[in-house]
Order: sequence, then structure tokens, then C-alpha cells
Amino acid sequence: MENSLVKRIEELKKERNAIILSHNYQRGDVQDVADFVGDSLGLSQTARKTDADVIIFCGVHFMAETAAIICPDKKVVIPDVNAGCPMAAMVTARELREKKKEYPDAVVVCYVNSTADVKAEVDICCTSANAVKVVSSIPEDKQIMFIPDKSLGDYVSQQLGREMIMWEGFCPTHHRITGEYVEKFKKDHPDALIVVHPECTRDVVDLAHHVASTTGIIRYVAESSAKKFFIGTESGIIHRLKNENPDKEFFHVLKLADCPNMKLNSLEKVLWALEDLEPVVTVREDIAAKARSTIEKMLAIT
Ligand code: 13P
Ligand code: SF4
Repeated sequence: MENSLVKRIEELKKERNAIILSHNYQRGDVQDVADFVGDSLGLSQTARKTDADVIIFCGVHFMAETAAIICPDKKVVIPDVNAGCPMAAMVTARELREKKKEYPDAVVVCYVNSTADVKAEVDICCTSANAVKVVSSIPEDKQIMFIPDKSLGDYVSQQLGREMIMWEGFCPTHHRITGEYVEKFKKDHPDALIVVHPECTRDVVDLAHHVASTTGIIRYVAESSAKKFFIGTESGIIHRLKNENPDKEFFHVLKLADCPNMKLNSLEKVLWALEDLEPVVTVREDIAAKARSTIEKMLAIT
């Protein structure tokens, strides 16, 4: 069954001149049919340079929306339109406009995990891969408001020794990974390296040997001579880590760190997306134009 699905997906991909992009958290079988698997930054960069007419975006809605913003001439299709990101839903454009009134001089840095409407209200975007770089590009004398992820903001703030006004957003999936759990794991496995995503809480980040974006985690593991790793991020990443490092052992909190939204896209839905070329992700052009400049500013820095 699965083989015929994959075969049909491959055929339709050619017919439609489509490319399949997958985030590192997608189901393993979805990652396996993708032309590119990566983090938010890598996915945006790949979307920007592809000459395909159609992008089947296997990730959550804000990721597909970002591709639609930077590739206005392409059709961006998400296999399941209900795949949202709870963190992105923790700030609306209206709430942000109100907050900006309190801090009229602050430069607003926005994690890419946000809606297009919100991106249109900010000064610059960032991803987990370049947040430190983006914030350090802002002159020291400027006040910064960081939205919506308070954990990524806290990590950046610690790295740069720079205070920022934080939004109260967070990732429910990463916040289920607790410091107590990681501490116990470390005691039980002193030979393992702890590698975590900056969406984790400070107590988890403080216990880590390395903190990085999803692709940063994959790169770090590949380059390390260690054999055992605790992976503090969403469970989908384990698929690539195991495939690419058969000689290494991975420990994870599995079900606890599952992002149900990421898992809504399935192989069948990828096929239907290619058949019907919907649901299409679109952004109103006036919003897209404003959001585009904040994403382009980020891509220029990276
Ligand atoms: P990355 O950009 O590191 O892949 O992270 C995206 C995300 O949603 C993490 O939860
Ligand atoms: Fe959003 Fe967290 Fe899921 Fe990433 S893992 S898509 S931040 S809810």
C-alpha cells in the first residue's frame, strides 16, 4: 500500500512540477518522500530558490504561510490546513499593536512561529537558527521587544547579556520536557550528551551541552564523536537522527514531546494535496508585502 502511494506521489510531483518540503518534525514516511527536510530557516531558503510551480509544504501553517509570503508566484499547498502552531496563536496583530503603544521606541523581533498578520507589524523576523545573530544586529542602545516565544527570547537574552521585553508565549510541546527529567537522565547516563532546542525552559537549557535549531541539532550530532545523545525537542527529529547515525544511540521523552499539529500531515494527505492542489495557503497582498520585508531582512542577515 505504502509503496503504491509513494509511487503515485512521485508521478504527480513530476506532472505538477511540484517540490515537497518537510520540517524535521514530520512523520517519518512524510520526511521520506520530501525533496528537502529541514528547519524553519532551511525550509524558507529552499522555498525561495526553488523553480517548482507548486510547493507541498509539510509542516505547520505559519511555515507554509512564510513560503507563500516569500514566493508569491508559487502555489503553496499544505496537506492538512488544521496543522497550526499553538505558540503562533499566542499573539494576535491587535494585541501586538496595543503592546507597541506601551513601548513605542522598541525594535520588535518576531520569531517566525507567528502569523503573517503579526509579521506585518514587526521590524524583523528570526528563526531558532539565527535569533542570536538577528538580535545582535540591533544597535546596543535600542530597546527590543521579543515575540512570541519567551523561552527562545530568554535563551537569546542569556547568550547576549541583553535584556528584552518578552511576550508570554511558549511551545506547549517543549515545555513538557522538564529539568527534573533531564537531570535524572544525566545522572543515569553520564556519558550522554544533552542536546536541546531553545524553545525548552531555562532549567532544561542550562543542563544542555548544546542548544540549537532542529537542523543545528542534526548537524551537531553528525559531527560529534560521542555515541549517546539525549534529544530535547519534538519526537519527529528522531527519525532523521537514527537514519543518518546508525552507530549512535538516542534517548528522548517521545510521546511527551509530540507536537500533535505537526503530525496531522500524513502520506495520504500529501497525495491528496498533489491530486487536488489544495488547500492552498494564501496571504493578502498588503499583509504579505509588509511581512515579506521583515523576513527578507532576516534572510539577508543569515
Ligand atoms: P526549527 O526552526 O528549529 O526547526 O523549529 C521550529 C519549531 O517549530 C520548533 O518547535
Ligand atoms: Fe509550534 Fe511547538 Fe509544534 Fe513547533 S513544536 S510547531 S513551536 S507547537
